[in-house]
Amino acid sequence: MSENQHSTDVTSADQNTFADPGIPEHQHRRGDVDAAASKRAERQVVVLFAISVIGTIASLVAYFAFRPDGTTSGTRLSTLTLGLGMAFALLGIGLAAVHWAKAIMNDTEVSEERHQLSSPDDVREAAVASLKAGVDDSGIARRGMLKGAALSALALFPLTIAVPLVSSVGGDWNVSKLRHTRWEKGMRLATDPTGRPIKASDVTIGSVFHVIPDVSEKERSSGEWLSEKAKAVVLLIRLDPRDLHEADDRKGWSYDGIVAYSKICTHVGCPVALYEQQTHHLLCPCHQSTFDVADGAKVVFGPAHRPLPQLPITVDDDGYLVAQSDFHEPVGPSYWERLK
Ligand code: FES
Repeated sequence: MSENQHSTDVTSADQNTFADPGIPEHQHRRGDVDAAASKRAERQVVVLFAISVIGTIASLVAYFAFRPDGTTSGTRLSTLTLGLGMAFALLGIGLAAVHWAKAIMNDTEVSEERHQLSSPDDVREAAVASLKAGVDDSGIARRGMLKGAALSALALFPLTIAVPLVSSVGGDWNVSKLRHTRWEKGMRLATDPTGRPIKASDVTIGSVFHVIPDVSEKERSSGEWLSEKAKAVVLLIRLDPRDLHEADDRKGWSYDGIVAYSKICTHVGCPVALYEQQTHHLLCPCHQSTFDVADGAKVVFGPAHRPLPQLPITVDDDGYLVAQSDFHEPVGPSYWERLK
């Protein structure tokens, strides 16, 4: 649609609109009648895009300046600063787009007859022309500063996601790490968060313990401990030994009815949490996958495809529960198993 055609259509539409006594007369914005006001609106949009750029830069600086150090306060500070930077980056783009549309783009009111859903070719061509006219209306072609600010904000914003993502996994593609946890032969099972080793006599029938490897104080305060703990966490449950159905290749993996299974759901990795003592079922709250603890934690319901990995356990000379080895399969979602 040419500029002349466009203005002709708009004029006739205005006339249609104004002919209806139920619709108040259109009020022009200040920017439409005052060049200075229009320029001011343009500057405001530029400032909003600039806020987005600053937010992006701030989030990148925060990502490198406040790395999670393994402590709760350190993780909070990192998350907070990164989130605030991203919030300003997105908010700046959003507000700029809205203000641009409201204050700078064409304010003409138009009305249109309803037509069939399948548009004929000439209507589609008109739509393309109208889109082109919208681009012209935005003024992006002739407002160089606005164009530069918008492109800068839009081009830089993805960095708030890409840089942390690439940096976090970059250089560490060793997927074998995902197949192994901190458990090893003879390592005691300890309660979380106290780190107190558990004796078999502490575990009564029906009780459930959230258990982690009993590592040194030094390892607990290291930066890697949080991720190691997250991979290694198990649920310790005692059943009546007569209820336990152990596969031949797993005989001896439990101790007097006490079994230990990975707490990470094999669907997409939520923590399995709810235990029904009567049915011996463990339920994942995310998508309701249900595992039968009495039968090798096999899936009895839900989207998970494989049982929860079992940690072979026994007791040491002092009666404390210890691991016989690491898990014999990858913990977590089935995806990792396919990387074998
Ligand atoms: S993550 Fe457990 S059922 Fe989906």
